[in-house]
Amino acid sequence: MIGRHGRTSVSAPLIAIADLEKTYATRARPRVQALAAITLDIAAGEFVTIVGQSGCGKTTLLKILAGLLPCSGGRVTLRGAVVDGPSRDIGIVFQDPVLLPWRTAFDNVMLPVQVLRLDPAVHRDRARRLLALVGLAGFEDKYPHELSGGR
Ligand SMILES: Nc1ncnc2c1ncn2[C@@H]1O[C@H](COP(=O)(O)OP(=O)(O)O)[C@@H](O)[C@H]1O
Ligand SMILES: [Mg+2]
Repeated sequence: MIGRHGRTSVSAPLIAIADLEKTYATRARPRVQALAAITLDIAAGEFVTIVGQSGCGKTTLLKILAGLLPCSGGRVTLRGAVVDGPSRDIGIVFQDPVLLPWRTAFDNVMLPVQVLRLDPAVHRDRARRLLALVGLAGFEDKYPHELSGGR
C-alpha cells in the first residue's frame, strides 16, 4: 500500500492527486486496500518515479492517473479538470506489450488512426517517423513476434 506523500509545488500543479483511495473487491477478500490517502502534486516538466515493492499499488495509481480505473475516494485533476475517464492527453506504456499480434508493426502504430477514423494518408508518414524514432525503420512490415522485445 502506498502511503501519504505530501509534496507540493509553488505554481499550479499539472497533476494534483488529493486523498486518493482505491479499494478492490475480490471474491476471496471484499476489501483489498491498494491506495490510501495519496496526496501529491506534480508540476509541468517534472519527472516523477514511483518506487515500491511489488503489490504496493504503483500500477493501480498509474491506471487511475490515466483514467483507466475509477478510484474509491479522493480525486485526480489534470490541469484543474477531474480525471474520470481515458483521455487522448494521457499516454501510458504498459509493463507488457499491448500489440495486436495479427497486425504488423506499422499497422499497430496506425491502429489509433483507424479507431479515431482519421485519414490514413495524412498519418502514414508520421507512423513511419515514430517507428524510426524507436529504431524500427525497416521493420514496419514485421509482426510483433518477429521483433525483439528489447530484453
Ligand atoms: N484487479 C484487482 N483486483 C483485486 N486486487 C487487485 C487488483 N489489482 C491489484 N490488486 C491488488 O492491489 C494491490 C496493489 O497492486 P498493484 O497496483 O498491481 O501493485 P504494484 O504495481 O505496485 O505491484 C495488491 O495487493 C494487488 O494484489
Ligand atoms: Mg505493477
